[in-house]
Amino acid sequence: MICARIVGTGSHLPGEPVTNDDLVRRGIDTSDEWIVTRTGIRARHFAAPGCKSSELALVAARRAIEAAGCAAGDIDLIIVATSTPDFIFPSTATLVQAGLGIGNGCAAFDMQAVCCGFVYALSAAEKFIRSGSHRRALIIGTEVFSNILDWADRSTCVLFGDGAGAVVLEASDRPGVRASVLHADGRHHPALWVPGAVAGGRVTGDPFLRMDGQVVFKFAVKVLDEVVREVVDLANVPLGSIDWLVPHQANIRIIQSSAKRLGLSMEKVVATVDFHGNTSAASIPLALDCAVRGGRIRPGQRVVIEGIGGGFAWGAALIDF
Ligand code: ACO
Repeated sequence: MICARIVGTGSHLPGEPVTNDDLVRRGIDTSDEWIVTRTGIRARHFAAPGCKSSELALVAARRAIEAAGCAAGDIDLIIVATSTPDFIFPSTATLVQAGLGIGNGCAAFDMQAVCCGFVYALSAAEKFIRSGSHRRALIIGTEVFSNILDWADRSTCVLFGDGAGAVVLEASDRPGVRASVLHADGRHHPALWVPGAVAGGRVTGDPFLRMDGQVVFKFAVKVLDEVVREVVDLANVPLGSIDWLVPHQANIRIIQSSAKRLGLSMEKVVATVDFHGNTSAASIPLALDCAVRGGRIRPGQRVVIEGIGGGFAWGAALIDF
C-alpha cells in the first residue's frame, strides 16, 4: 500500500513582531491586557506593504524542500491554501511553482477553506499520493491577512497576522498521514466572512473581514474535540497514543478548551498563537514547523492537526512522523 509521509517542514514570518502595545501606539483603541486575556495573543507579524502571499509561501516552501532533502524539481503537486491570494487568478500555487523554477509541468492549484485550508490541502494531497498518481507534494498555507483587516474594527484587527508554513509530503511504504476528516456547514457563513466581490471592474460590497466572535467561539469549542475523536477513531488508534495536538492557532481559550474536553494536558499541545496571532491557513503549518524545528515533534511520534474557519469548514488529520 502507498502511504504519504511528511518529510520536511518550513515556515516564514515576515518582518519584526508587532506587539499589542505597538497596536495601541498605532492608534487602535485596545490594550495588551484585553487582547491577552481574551485571546492569548501577545504579538503578530505583518508583511510589508505590497508583499504578496506567494512571496511568503516561497520562503516557507524553500525551507520545507531543504528539510526534505529533495530538489524543487522533484515536486509533482503543489497545493496552496490561502484566502488572500496574490490575484483573483491565476492561482497562487502556479506563482509559487514559477518562483521555485519548477518547469516540469506539475499540477498546481489553490485550496479555499479559510483557516482550515491547510487540513483540506493535506487531506487532498494525501489522496493524490495514495492513489499512485503523484509522489511528492508541496503543501503550503500562506496569508497576508493584513490586507483584509479593517483597522477601524478593534474586535477583529487585533486577532490576525501574516505568515506562511509548508510541508513536503512524499510517497512511502510506511504510514504517515493515517486518516483525515473534513466537514463544512455553509449555513454559518455570515459569522465569519469577507463579503466583498469583484464586478464591473470594481470591488462591490465590503472588502474587510467581518466576524461574530461569540458565534465562532461557541461553534469552534463544540466541534474541535469531536473532530479529533472522529479522526482518531477512523485511524483506529487510541486517543492516548497522541503525542502532540497541533490546533489552528486562533485563540488560546479555544485551544485550552478543546484540549480539556479531550483530556489532553497542555504539555502535549503546540500553541504558538501568542507570537503568531491568527494567520488563518498558515497557522497550522507554522505551528508544526516551530514544533519540529524546536525539537518537540520527533520522528516516530504521532500528531493530530485540527482546524476550523469560515464557512464554517473544519477538519483534522492524524499523522505519524
Ligand atoms: N480591545 C478592547 N476592547 C475591545 C476590543 C479590543 N480589541 N474588541 C472588542 N472590545 C470590547 C467590545 O467593544 C465590548 O465592549 P462593550 O462591552 O463596552 O460593548 C467588549 O470588549 C466585549 O466584546 P465582546 O465581543 O463581547 O468580547 P468577547 O469576550 O466575546 O471576546 C473575542 C471577543 C476575543 C473575539 C471572542 O469572541 C473570541 O475569541 N471569539 C473567537 C473568534 C476567533 O478566535 N476568531 C478567529 C477567526 S475564526 C477562527 O480562526 C476559528
